[in-house]
Amino acid sequence: MKIFLDTANIDEIKSCLKLGLVDGVTTNPSLIAKQGVPMKDRILEILEIVSGPVSVEVTTDQLDKMIEQGLEYNSWHPNVYVKLPCTPTGIQALIELKKSDVKINMTLVFSLAQALICAKLGADFVSPFVGRLDDIGVDGIEFVSNIKDTYTLYGYQTEVLAASIRSVDHVTSCIAVAADICTVPVKIFNQLLAHPLTEKGQAKFLADFKSSANA
Ligand code: G3P
Repeated sequence: MKIFLDTANIDEIKSCLKLGLVDGVTTNPSLIAKQGVPMKDRILEILEIVSGPVSVEVTTDQLDKMIEQGLEYNSWHPNVYVKLPCTPTGIQALIELKKSDVKINMTLVFSLAQALICAKLGADFVSPFVGRLDDIGVDGIEFVSNIKDTYTLYGYQTEVLAASIRSVDHVTSCIAVAADICTVPVKIFNQLLAHPLTEKGQAKFLADFKSSANA
């Protein structure tokens, strides 16, 4: 499973890169807005330090502007994946942008019908929002699993990028259901490696050795 960071904060990305686990980055207009800098400037900064896919979401609900923005983002760097909302307008933009071989991440995906349509139309990634489904009492992880089974059944190559991840358990469950990618907030990313028994075990080993004749 590839691990992406779900952030537009350059310092957070730099700190996580040290672990060699960052396969890509996803952003969205809310994450960009938090940074208080021009989107293009920040995306170009991220592209300079991250060697994998970087998702950049359109900031309009108008078809002509979605296409215009998608073509512009695509011109910035080969690793740019244009994020389109899974709405009727977003689907039309997907169709048009695919004619120009733009790489597409279809986002805000909440139903199997949406996921099937995105794959049929050649989306590179689909982003089911696990946490937001859980918020309404729908099993977000089960939805990820259902998309994977459906894509396998029909032979679609679209990758399932689990998003709206709220806990280490969500990441673990994404591994278990074979999500292709999991995009993780930095707070959760930093918890992935930590385990109290690891820290406790290392402390005991060091203490035992320190108190032995070998010390
Ligand atoms: O990538 C989508 C993600 O940023 C949304 O997360 O927690 O706002 O549902 P959340």
